[in-house]
Amino acid sequence: LSSYPSYIDLLPSIQTCNITNLPENYFLKYYLYHALTWPQLSFVAVVRPRSGYKSSTAPGGAGAAGDVSGEYPKVVGYVLAKMEEEPADGKQHGHITSLSVMRTHRRLGIAERLMRMSQRAMAESHRAHFVSLHVRVSNVAALRLYRDTLGFEVEKVESGYYADGEDAYAMHLNLQSMW
Ligand code: ACO
Repeated sequence: LSSYPSYIDLLPSIQTCNITNLPENYFLKYYLYHALTWPQLSFVAVVRPRSGYKSSTAPGGAGAAGDVSGEYPKVVGYVLAKMEEEPADGKQHGHITSLSVMRTHRRLGIAERLMRMSQRAMAESHRAHFVSLHVRVSNVAALRLYRDTLGFEVEKVESGYYADGEDAYAMHLNLQSMW
C-alpha cells in the first residue's frame, strides 16, 4: 500500500492543474490545510497509465489514487472545498474554493461528478445547509455547470471581487434535501 500515492502526495499536481487553468492560485500549505481540516470534501480526477480517469477521495479515503506500477497518476481535475469556519448566520455551510479540469479532459462530466461528490460529503459529513462559491461573470462554461447542470442560484453580484477588477457572481445551492 505504501507504493500508492495518497491525496497529499498529489497536492503538487493539483496545484499545477490549478495554475494551468485559473488565475486564482494558492500556496501549497493552503491545499494542505483543506486536506487536513476537511478530508472528506476535496476530490481529484486522475488518469492512470493506459486507462481512463478515476475519481479519488481525499486523504485516507478508500479510493486514494495510485497505480500498481508505482508510477504517479496524472491529475486532470480537482475540486478543493471547505466548510465556512465562522458562518455569519451560524448555519453550517460548505464553500467551493476552486474547481478545474484540464482542457484535454473537458466535457466528459468530470467537473459535474467532482462537484456532486463534494456536495454529498458536505451534507452527509457536516450537515451543511448549503454550498456557496464565487465565479467570474464572464465564465460561461462554469456558469452553465453551476446554474444549469447543478442548480445553483445567483445570490448577488460582488463588484470587483477578483484581483483584476472583474465582478463575481456569489452563488449557492441548498443541500438540506441530501441530509
Ligand atoms: N460551454 C458551455 N457549457 C459548458 C462548458 C462549456 N465550455 N463546459 C461545461 N459546460 C456545462 C454543460 O452544461 C455541461 O453539460 P453537457 O456537457 O452535458 O452539456 C456541464 O457543464 C457539465 O460539464 P463537465 O463535463 O462536467 O465540465 P468539465 O469537466 O468540462 O469542467 C469547468 C467544467 C470546470 C468549468 C472547466 O471548463 C474548467 O476547468 N474551466 C477553467 C477553470 C474554471 O473556470 N473553473 C471554475 C472557476 S469557479 C471556481 O473555481 C469556484
